[in-house]
Amino acid sequence: MATYTEVSQQLRERPRTWLVTGVAGFIGSNILQRLLELDQKVVGLDNFSTGKRENLEDVRRCVKSGAWENFTFHEGDTRDLAACRRACEGAGILLHQAALGSVPRSIKDPIASHESNVNGFLNMLVAARDAGVSRMVYASSSSVYGDDPQLPKVEERVGNPLSPYAVTKAINESYAAVFGRAYGFKAVGLRYFNVFGPRQDPDGPYAAVMPKWIDALVKGQPCQIHGDGETSRDFCFVANAVQANILAGTAPGEGLADVFNVSYGGTTSLTQLYWMIAERLAALRPGLTPGDPVYAPFRPGDIRHSQADLTRIKTLLGYEPTHSVAQGLDELVPWFASAHARS
Ligand SMILES: NC(=O)c1ccc[n+]([C@@H]2O[C@H](COP(=O)([O-])OP(=O)(O)OC[C@H]3O[C@@H](n4cnc5c(N)ncnc54)[C@H](O)[C@@H]3O)[C@@H](O)[C@H]2O)c1
Repeated sequence: MATYTEVSQQLRERPRTWLVTGVAGFIGSNILQRLLELDQKVVGLDNFSTGKRENLEDVRRCVKSGAWENFTFHEGDTRDLAACRRACEGAGILLHQAALGSVPRSIKDPIASHESNVNGFLNMLVAARDAGVSRMVYASSSSVYGDDPQLPKVEERVGNPLSPYAVTKAINESYAAVFGRAYGFKAVGLRYFNVFGPRQDPDGPYAAVMPKWIDALVKGQPCQIHGDGETSRDFCFVANAVQANILAGTAPGEGLADVFNVSYGGTTSLTQLYWMIAERLAALRPGLTPGDPVYAPFRPGDIRHSQADLTRIKTLLGYEPTHSVAQGLDELVPWFASAHARS
């Protein structure tokens, strides 16, 4: 089985055309950057509902001159089948990231989550199948494990979903499996665990914990932890998620599974995470003295612990995560602090 380094080299020698939906978002823009660094042709689709034009601008700044010319952007909505069809024209591999993230958002507005995450997903499946796209890789989520208590999470065993968001991702997996059986169209789901990294949005009521805390600490504001701080997650630096997408998009079809866990395989409590961030920021900005976090009530729909078993993705795709949480934070905290200084 080829390693990620070997796959990257093969792609450089024989570039492909990729369609990345949700390309102006956090994970999508990191995928875009890596693909352009590998001299790939990339088509992007986004409706800027949560994604930002600045993310695309940032990728343009980060890649070497000339690489940006390999990128074509379509502003469009996955809820519009015609827009999906236009974006799929000529695409070889589809990496579908577009969706409305956040469990609390889906609890507040389940219809909006359903429309983008389920209707939009089905449109992309149909468009990709009809356009002759060789494979679709899509963002699923660890939320599909729901109330199943077993740790670490293994792909075969899921529980009852605990939020509308988790339902949307479980439906994605059902549709993807049916498209394999009914039409012979291969779609591979990546169950991301909490992904973090540069360009993750710190703003708004549905921001993920990491950018929200770093942003608050940089501004000298207090950070809130929902629950007692012992809630734990398997935080996954975005470079690991990008690697999983590229491996899943290019792996030979024979024996390829339908879904894979994607993370680092570790466990970090929220209190531990807070202090890991605080220490790095304090080292970076000696004037900054982060105080204790503020503990608030648990949030509905949140699971208590989450940790990925990575046996399947390591065995079948040759996935080897490059960044632990600590290594990811070593890159993210300085990035965030300098992005904050620029803004
Ligand atoms: N970040 C995580 O920890 C995490 C964990 C599990 C799963 N996921 C999934 O990964 C994917 C990417 O998440 P992210 O963290 O980068 O979020 P993000 O909000 O930064 O990116 C999502 C992108 O999709 C776009 N989008 C949303 N609805 C759309 C629509 N109807 N048509 C076109 N574009 C649309 C948004 O504008 C945005 O650019 C999502 O599917 C999300 O559910 C993320």
